[in-house]
Amino acid sequence: MELRAVLRVLRPRVGEAILDAGCGGGYYTEALHRQGALVTGTDMSIEMVRQVRRATGLPVFASNLEQGAAGPVFDAVLSCGALEFCRAPEKAVREMAEALRPGGGRVVLMIPAVTMLSHLYRYYHARHGVSINLFSFADVESMARAAGLQITESRRAGFNHVVRMEPAGEGEQP
Ligand SMILES: C[S@@+](CC[C@H](N)C(=O)[O-])C[C@H]1O[C@@H](n2cnc3c(N)ncnc32)[C@H](O)[C@@H]1O
Repeated sequence: MELRAVLRVLRPRVGEAILDAGCGGGYYTEALHRQGALVTGTDMSIEMVRQVRRATGLPVFASNLEQGAAGPVFDAVLSCGALEFCRAPEKAVREMAEALRPGGGRVVLMIPAVTMLSHLYRYYHARHGVSINLFSFADVESMARAAGLQITESRRAGFNHVVRMEPAGEGEQP
């Protein structure tokens, strides 16, 4: 369900350069590769980076979302299920916007909304000593604005927002 929503909102095209930021085990990295995109994965976990590289042969690098990404060369940045772990998610979104090629691109995020189920998700992580963020739609709007982006599409997948953001002044409002 999430993959379908992500692909519908991202609309990847063959040959596009797409960054999968916080790629984890490479689920979306591989899905984008299958769609014909030139995908690069990044994750702060060296073990994940090694594992995905070994398993897929795709370019995957160690990088902290909050400290900047390679760029500005990407047609799109996708980040699924990673922003909730960031201490400064608004900084991470700014860095993703910086990774877009000049004059275009989009950032697509899948992040947990504030719902009963996502509170359970947060409780699960808290039991393992990990604190995570949940995001109201106002939080998402505020992160987009701070990064010079505007929300051009938004849908829900399970307890997540799947949001498309484009440089302010481009694209259409939802
Ligand atoms: C729940 S997994 C999601 C992985 C993948 N995107 C997916 O949806 O299958 C979250 C990943 O985000 C990574 N992560 C968390 N904080 C990060 C940060 N500040 N910079 C880069 N990666 C981060 C973690 O190492 C982990 O691999």
